[in-house]
Amino acid sequence: MTRRVHQADKGNFVRLIISVNNGIGTGLPAPWLSRGRVFLDRPLWSLARVGATGGLAMDDLQYLNGIWNRLRSMADGSAPSAAIQIATVSSTGSPGLRTVIVREASFEEATVSFITDIRSTKIKDIRRDPRVSAISYELESRVQIKLAGTAAIVDDKDARHAVWERLKPHSRKQFERDLPSGISLYSSDGTPMGWEDDGASPKEPYDRFALVSISVTSAEWLDVSTEDHTRYAFYRDRQPKWRSIRLSP
Ligand SMILES: Cc1cc2nc3c(=O)[nH]c(=O)nc-3n(C[C@H](O)[C@H](O)[C@H](O)COP(=O)(O)O)c2cc1C
Repeated sequence: MTRRVHQADKGNFVRLIISVNNGIGTGLPAPWLSRGRVFLDRPLWSLARVGATGGLAMDDLQYLNGIWNRLRSMADGSAPSAAIQIATVSSTGSPGLRTVIVREASFEEATVSFITDIRSTKIKDIRRDPRVSAISYELESRVQIKLAGTAAIVDDKDARHAVWERLKPHSRKQFERDLPSGISLYSSDGTPMGWEDDGASPKEPYDRFALVSISVTSAEWLDVSTEDHTRYAFYRDRQPKWRSIRLSP
């Protein structure tokens, strides 16, 4: 990566030119930059303002708030759907994908939580490699939200208990199943298969219940409701503050 900055002959602005091989060293997350050259013309005064505050422009802030409002409304049940697809890195290195329900979302902590069975494949994946990404599309608003971050199984007794207490009976019931998810019920010739656990698996529903918290390092907003689709990316991988990039859709 090379970065050149020069002041243009005419006009009071600077052109930032960034030649990109793979995004490494640019300070921008690799997935958002591929080979090529990007440049950015900025009035001198605007660079001074951004440098001084480190803050987001109002427009950008509106989209970041949009992402977190949406996640919060999924968690409190006021969104049309609370379903989000979570991708993990599987044992073979291929992506593992499934739907889960958003249970908690905190802009302040930059976390999103879901619950699952401690015996599930996604928990095994997360224990091996905590990197996850998540995506949700809302049909009504035609907005897609994409997240990336690292997942952790929450140990905190009070935090687990608080979420468990809020679960509806049918959600708690999922943890009463002795058979872990994804176990074959029939052999290839149609014979029902038996199941004997290894004795190490938890027996109580509450002990099978896992609360997983994703520490979000990047978030993306894509609105396809208008002709000019709007796409914003936000990231906070190196510092607690959010930084933004407007992307071509
Ligand atoms: C609408 C919907 C919501 C779901 N919510 C959850 C959830 O909150 N937690 C969960 O573990 N599985 C949930 N599931 C089931 C998962 O998608 C998945 O099949 C299961 O957890 C096994 O995933 P794994 O084998 O990849 O770990 C949901 C499925 C659907 C269709």
